[in-house]
Amino acid sequence: MAKIKSIKEEKFSNKKCLLRLDLNVPLSESGEILDDTRIIESKPSIDYLIDQGAKVIIISHIGRPNGKYEKKFSFKNIKDQIENRINREIIFIDFDDQSKAIDIVDSKNNSTLFMLDNLRFNPGEESNDDEFIDFLSSISDVYVNDGFGTIHRNHASITGVSKKIKSFGGLLLEKEIQNISKCMTTKSSNSIAILGGAKISDKIPIIENLSSSFSDVVITGGMLRPFLVASGEISNSNDIQDDNEVIVAKKILNENRNLFIPKQLICAKSLDHEPELLNSSQIESDDNIYDIGPNSLSDISNMIINSNKIIWNGPPGVYEKELFQNGTKTIIKAIVNSKSKIKVAGGGSTVAAINYFNSSDYFSHISTGGGAFLSMLEGKFLQGIEVLK
Ligand code: 3PG
Repeated sequence: MAKIKSIKEEKFSNKKCLLRLDLNVPLSESGEILDDTRIIESKPSIDYLIDQGAKVIIISHIGRPNGKYEKKFSFKNIKDQIENRINREIIFIDFDDQSKAIDIVDSKNNSTLFMLDNLRFNPGEESNDDEFIDFLSSISDVYVNDGFGTIHRNHASITGVSKKIKSFGGLLLEKEIQNISKCMTTKSSNSIAILGGAKISDKIPIIENLSSSFSDVVITGGMLRPFLVASGEISNSNDIQDDNEVIVAKKILNENRNLFIPKQLICAKSLDHEPELLNSSQIESDDNIYDIGPNSLSDISNMIINSNKIIWNGPPGVYEKELFQNGTKTIIKAIVNSKSKIKVAGGGSTVAAINYFNSSDYFSHISTGGGAFLSMLEGKFLQGIEVLK
């Protein structure tokens, strides 16, 4: 993949720099930031630009307010928490004062940090509207995108602005693209992709792309059942809501010979029922698959230990419940013990599981992206990256 233009190639002193971040962080009911990884990971670019003498205007979205102001989605609610995490003061520009943004920015010294309110209060953000692009470009001399988590979106602040002003990729964006691309493209005879998730139809291009870049692709999570039905392991399919999933699974199995489908599983009638260790042929229509059994886990662990590159998206079981966390724990343990230099993970629930078991230090790269990470695994053309080349 051709390299993006790095912020190291530009001088930012005396410049107004629009900095696109992905500060779409999870919040508790009372508005506390539950996971600050995206904020912490944005700090190196903020520090770099401020130290260079730029006026930095942070822009981001949070949630999906659908093009209109909604108090609960205002960054004003979490401005103090962001300031604490980045250890810097922010001059916050209220949504109502957006038209005065240029005057506010011009009235302050270099090396000052500003922040606009939620981009998605403006309908022009998601529709990539010219008028909104013009507004964003008018308040800045140069644009830096460091919001990897949104790089798959074709929005004004991601693909639009870079048509108007000089544009660069930030330090986090560079790190994400380099590490994920390296994992996808490094040739290795022993490599493993572990993939979870609920709907196969959403994952077809990802499974196909991983199948061609990795020697083994392990299927886990909600996708397991239709794969087991498709391969004739489970005869009943009455509780598969979408029969199409089985048809899709059959097609994928026929076309990709390197899929590993675990066949010993931990099942229960519901999360409150007693779990049972079952072989796939024993699974009945009212059994839910909540985790992988020890024999299948031992096969997966051996594959991981012998791999020279590992990528992981999607916990294999309900790791928050003690009875169903052995699969997730065992996969993490095998990744920790593997001598592979490339150990990449991404996706909200995967990163939450890694943090839950305090294992983040053992990965070579943990992505801040959800949909963006999956788009990279799919090998998709990402316009947000293209415009920065
Ligand atoms: C994410 O959390 O994956 C990004 O911030 C993108 O958010 P979106 O799915 O609402 O566009």
